[in-house]
Amino acid sequence: MADLADGADGVERLTYDDLDPGDRELVDAAREACATSYAPYSGVHVGAALRTRDGRIMTGSNVENAAYGSTICAERMAVGRANAEGERAFTAVAVAAQGERLQGDQVVSPCGSCRQVLHEMAAVTGTRTRVLMTTPGTARITIGSLEELLPLPFGPLSR
Ligand code: THU
Repeated sequence: MADLADGADGVERLTYDDLDPGDRELVDAAREACATSYAPYSGVHVGAALRTRDGRIMTGSNVENAAYGSTICAERMAVGRANAEGERAFTAVAVAAQGERLQGDQVVSPCGSCRQVLHEMAAVTGTRTRVLMTTPGTARITIGSLEELLPLPFGPLSR
């Protein structure tokens, strides 16, 4: 099976300089959000930036806990923040990370739980979400759609 980061169908691999100004701004916001991360246990500081349907940017960073399983990822923190601002439709999300445990060429990609949460919002709002995944330092960017990252998703349930 092809590795997503190695250029699977539909996935683009670019450099930061190839991005259009809007995507560059989103990656910059994700990178800046890493500075607010609370990650004393893993040392992996993750930042996420959502582009809302109306063009705003909502950021979040990971918040760890001594009970490790209570940690909340950057992407879900950003979704919670956007939801509190009344927004659930996201046209793009950028993810960045910093930390000595990451390799320089390692693509930082949303975990399965975050993909599921992003899928819920995409489905209920009928929005296609692009996912911009960066290497530490954000020099290289991998772009895919949420559908590519989470094929055959669960839900949402009927209301
Ligand atoms: N993390 C995120 O914030 N987002 C992801 O999609 C993957 C993992 C965080 C959780 C934890 O604080 C640290 O990265 C190491 O797993």
